[in-house]
Amino acid sequence: MLPREMTPRTIVGHLDQFVIGQDEAKRTLAVAVYAHYRKITALKSASGSIAKSNVLLIGPSGTGKTLTCETLAGLLSVPFVTADATSLAQTKYVNEEIEAILQRLLDKAGGDMQKAALGIVFIDEIDKLKAQGGESRVTSGESVQHALLKIMEGAPVKLGSEKYLDTTNILFICGGAFVGLEKIMSRTHGFGFIATSDGDNKRILERLNNRVKPTDLFEFGLIPEFTGRLPIVARFGELGKELLVRIMSEPKNSIVRQFQEVFRAEGVELTLAPRVFEQIAELAIEYKTGARSLRGIFEELMTPILYLVPDTPEISRVEIRSLFEDPRFFRRGSSA
Ligand SMILES: Nc1ncnc2c1ncn2[C@@H]1O[C@H](COP(=O)(O)OP(=O)(O)O)[C@@H](O)[C@H]1O
Ligand SMILES: [Mg+2]
Repeated sequence: MLPREMTPRTIVGHLDQFVIGQDEAKRTLAVAVYAHYRKITALKSASGSIAKSNVLLIGPSGTGKTLTCETLAGLLSVPFVTADATSLAQTKYVNEEIEAILQRLLDKAGGDMQKAALGIVFIDEIDKLKAQGGESRVTSGESVQHALLKIMEGAPVKLGSEKYLDTTNILFICGGAFVGLEKIMSRTHGFGFIATSDGDNKRILERLNNRVKPTDLFEFGLIPEFTGRLPIVARFGELGKELLVRIMSEPKNSIVRQFQEVFRAEGVELTLAPRVFEQIAELAIEYKTGARSLRGIFEELMTPILYLVPDTPEISRVEIRSLFEDPRFFRRGSSA
């Protein structure tokens, strides 16, 4: 299932081609996924069971949580689906809704039950399932947590009329922004640890203090049984200007490369000044949706140019110097 040469390091190396920054989270996830699929392979030869470790991803919207999971699933060639915890809380039929998620996983596996049983399910907005909180909801966050708990623990789930999907080896990854968790964590900061002047110990201490403790998650509103099923926590950080600039240009399938490809098909070279990337990044930061708004801003910039280019075959190059300046068009065989 997991090729020999696929180690946590090679997994991170693969992720690096698509996910920019988030180094700590990528490492944590790579180890978790590696251990998960290694255990399954080991269990095929040995008897008994090793408890499964599902993963919790904490971080703001648009910072790469879904992208990382999707990229991992692609690398491992396992089926992958995403679902939203909030929509589970909006229905009376939570169990039916969960079955529908697993049915989608089975569809992704081309109807192959064994393949589906090794898939990855990403459930987003898990932080909206607080046990308390008086919002009007059809199903309480707590009962959704209980329903999810069942499949995360590995119960067989009936799909259709008589087929059962074994969820024992499905890797569940839960995600959420957990706004307010920092505050809770800062209150419990440093309990039980002694600071020393030694530099190395300080680093370890910092790591321990930055760890999200199960008690922090209870306080946030997740029930203990649920947090118990999510022993691995990875944190995705806010994306700053520098990382946003890299996201636009560095990944194999980056936005810029995609547009350059479109222009190349028209026989046109597209160049953007470094300043343009910075301007787009600054706008994206204002929108507060992480890297999510980058594509929209880019599309907006490109649309008028792409409208023009196909009807003007003499254009050989387009240069964009600033988001707030008209693009420059260069004709074939002349300098401007
Ligand atoms: N760290 C990152 N590296 C590269 N692209 C990113 C990163 N974070 C976000 N993106 C881009 O933004 C889009 C939305 O990110 P997503 O993974 O869905 O965010 P999240 O799940 O954390 O809300 C992705 O499809 C990708 O294009
Ligand atoms: Mg997401």
